[in-house]
Amino acid sequence: MAAFSQNEIDAFGARAEAMVNALGAISAEPDRLVRLFLTSEHRRAADRIGGWMREAGLEVSEDALGTVRGRLDGRQRLLIGSHIDTVIDAGKYDGNFGVIAGILAAEHFARRANRLTFGIDVLAFGDEEGSRFPATLSSSSACAGLFRAENLQLADRNGVALVEAIKAYGKSPDDIPHAAYKAGEAAAYVEVHIEQGPVLESRNQPLAVVTAIIGQTYLNIEFLGEAAHAGTVPMMLRRDALAGAAEAMLLGERLARETKGEVVATVGRMTVAPGASNVIPGKVVVVFDIRSGSEPARAKLADALKAGAREISDRRQLSVTITSTREVATTPCHPAIQDQFAEAIRAIGAEPLRLGSGAGHDGQAMAKLCPIGMLFVRCRGGISHNPKEYASPRDLGLAVAALIGFIERFEPEKLLV
Ligand code: GLV
Ligand code: MN
Ligand code: MN
Repeated sequence: MAAFSQNEIDAFGARAEAMVNALGAISAEPDRLVRLFLTSEHRRAADRIGGWMREAGLEVSEDALGTVRGRLDGRQRLLIGSHIDTVIDAGKYDGNFGVIAGILAAEHFARRANRLTFGIDVLAFGDEEGSRFPATLSSSSACAGLFRAENLQLADRNGVALVEAIKAYGKSPDDIPHAAYKAGEAAAYVEVHIEQGPVLESRNQPLAVVTAIIGQTYLNIEFLGEAAHAGTVPMMLRRDALAGAAEAMLLGERLARETKGEVVATVGRMTVAPGASNVIPGKVVVVFDIRSGSEPARAKLADALKAGAREISDRRQLSVTITSTREVATTPCHPAIQDQFAEAIRAIGAEPLRLGSGAGHDGQAMAKLCPIGMLFVRCRGGISHNPKEYASPRDLGLAVAALIGFIERFEPEKLLV
């Protein structure tokens, strides 16, 4: 087993930080980080990743959804991945660091004379955030053989369908089935990711083993009223779609608060039409993001919210259409992978805390293919999905060292028991 000196860990951290910054500069906008799926920024980031993979000694390819793969030996492979798309006005670490950690760890083994008994694929997915199309995990779903062909017709905010975006990126939708790993090829999927929450910082620890990734429901609720003049229609005679949506939003907040931490519900996106200050809103689409580790608790809240939205709509003489656009079950991390990550964390002198993930990750799709596991890295203030996102080079270096330690301990056979 490699035992790294503090200097070596710092060298990993410095390289990782420089790579995070290089990717962080690839954005659609000069003043904030925006890198959406299948855009020219995605292309530039993927090219940079491919170049680093080649330099690390990996054989590089790309699938029909633009996932960059860096391969090292072996028929049966350990998959190490994360995503290089971002939210709008993103931080630099979310997803990107996980790909970089995979490249640095794979490079360590590519340079070694005695090879592992299994191969490694480092995967840079392009659609984890779902920031461009109203779907998410498309890239990892394709790798897991679960891509939903009907999603090809989903359109972005400019009306561009996913199928067209794939072609404009130079890929063929007909090749999507080839992105899927064959049975037995993938021994496991692991991902390194910033925690995106405050627990590690509060416990003064750099790394944690993830126990499970929380389940998620997305509800699109469309309220239809009647657009009318803001000065002439008396309050009692209005059919204001936004007032209905606002009531539903507060209902979601109240229902989630009543669960005392078991469920969280967020509205981060709402479209108001026609969107003029002197017009009573006629149509509003409000998107609820509902998450919980408990499937029944999440379903119960979603049902109560749907019933409440119908009641609000009736009372306000609106009409309502409710569509579930995302339903992802809570995904446990494999116990043997958790234990191997815990040993690797202990080996670098840290305490292996165990944490659940409140954020979604590509592992939720990859779990349909093979056992999964995750390693969390402390981030400042627990802040993420925000340009203030930060993880220290020291912690990045420790994460790379722990990932290498994990790979050294990884035994595919242990996953069978
Ligand atoms: C992705 O970061 C998500 O959890 O929404
Ligand atoms: Mn992420
Ligand atoms: Mn994210």
